[in-house]
Amino acid sequence: MGLPEGFRWGVATAAYQVEGAADEDGRGPSTWDTFSRTPGRVRDGHTGDVACDHYHRWPEDVALMAGLGVDSYRFSIAWPRVQPSGSGPVNTRGLDFYDRLVDGLLAEGIAPAATLYHWDLPQPLEDAGGWMERDTAYRFAEFSYLAAERLADRVEMWITLNEPVVVMAYGYAFGVYAPGRTLMLDALPTAHHQLLGHGLAVHALRSRNARTIGLTNHYSPAWAATPGDQPAADAFDAFMNRLFTDPVLLGRYPAIMGDAPFVRPEDLAVIGAPIDFLGVNYYQPTRLTTPSEGPLPFDITDITEYPTTGMGWPIVPDAFLSLLRTLDSRYDLPPLYITENGCSFPDEIGPDGAVDDSSRIDFLDAHIKAMRTATEEGIDIRGYYAWSLLDNFEWAEGYHPRFGLVHVDYETQKRTPKKSYTWYRDLIASTREHAKSH
Ligand code: BGC
Repeated sequence: MGLPEGFRWGVATAAYQVEGAADEDGRGPSTWDTFSRTPGRVRDGHTGDVACDHYHRWPEDVALMAGLGVDSYRFSIAWPRVQPSGSGPVNTRGLDFYDRLVDGLLAEGIAPAATLYHWDLPQPLEDAGGWMERDTAYRFAEFSYLAAERLADRVEMWITLNEPVVVMAYGYAFGVYAPGRTLMLDALPTAHHQLLGHGLAVHALRSRNARTIGLTNHYSPAWAATPGDQPAADAFDAFMNRLFTDPVLLGRYPAIMGDAPFVRPEDLAVIGAPIDFLGVNYYQPTRLTTPSEGPLPFDITDITEYPTTGMGWPIVPDAFLSLLRTLDSRYDLPPLYITENGCSFPDEIGPDGAVDDSSRIDFLDAHIKAMRTATEEGIDIRGYYAWSLLDNFEWAEGYHPRFGLVHVDYETQKRTPKKSYTWYRDLIASTREHAKSH
């Protein structure tokens, strides 16, 4: 199938989106608890208090993964479970949960891939300024060290940050995600402090003998609406795609960072520490126009000529391929893992009890083919994680969008594998058969 030997198939989730058990076993509040419990922030007032109850139902979820035949599970470790106030001693009961989960995965031959920061900052750190403060980077490295101290002997892959661009843009610039600040361009220090936290965490993880280490970025190919809008597209590309990758892989910031006083000369060497892989999350391209007003150097406009997902996101597998080519031409890349790719649809249970999500199958099939073309061209991609195993808490959209291969009834917590689950299972099995016969 044009995939390298040992290619890893996986599924991904994130702590706040699936775990629930928000006040259990000494877990402290995170920015997402605060945000989702604030009226008007999340659609219909949904919160992650219960979510998919993965905290208690993980054995059932691991069994679902075993049924799929995945090689790896990407989950995230909730910082507020490990250090309820964001600093200080470990809350052992919090780490115990991940200990059980990791052992449960290994018992099924599923490699644990742990993300350390998937947006759930301990609230006390936010109260002290959050990612606007340099100190948060040091706190993050300390938390990473504590997690690795307990789990590095068994966790196969470590992802420091998930999509720092979304934290900066949605969380601190536009205020649509936690912590809900609207600093616009003044949010730039959160980019640097997250990246510094990444670099310091790489060092901390290596000191605890953590194995494969990398970070995951969100990428969206930037399309100019007209040739005259190219500067707007370039500006978006710099913010969205290069700001969090250039410093890591090239050792310097794109020009948009300017002469930032919060960037100390020695920081870039920390941020540019060698990583073992780059995680790529891809969902959709973005079309840009020249801004008519406002502080940003671009405006975003709808892409209307493609079919869309349930959230109205354009389905463009070719843009995924072109993104992989762009990354390959821009950087001397470490191996890539596609750490997220997927789509949401309304996905209702039919009268026969099944969930016929053929649109998701088409989406995954087309994107996996695009990825395969990239590997055939020589781009070193080692794995693919579908987002997501389960329907889950989709941030400001609450439980409305359904991204899972498995349907979740939030009233009963009943899991129903969708048609795409069977499809993905068969795809994984057939690529293994193919690999065996070659
Ligand atoms: C995030 C996930 C999210 C998904 C779909 C990614 O940006 O990492 O947490 O659920 O996209 O929006």
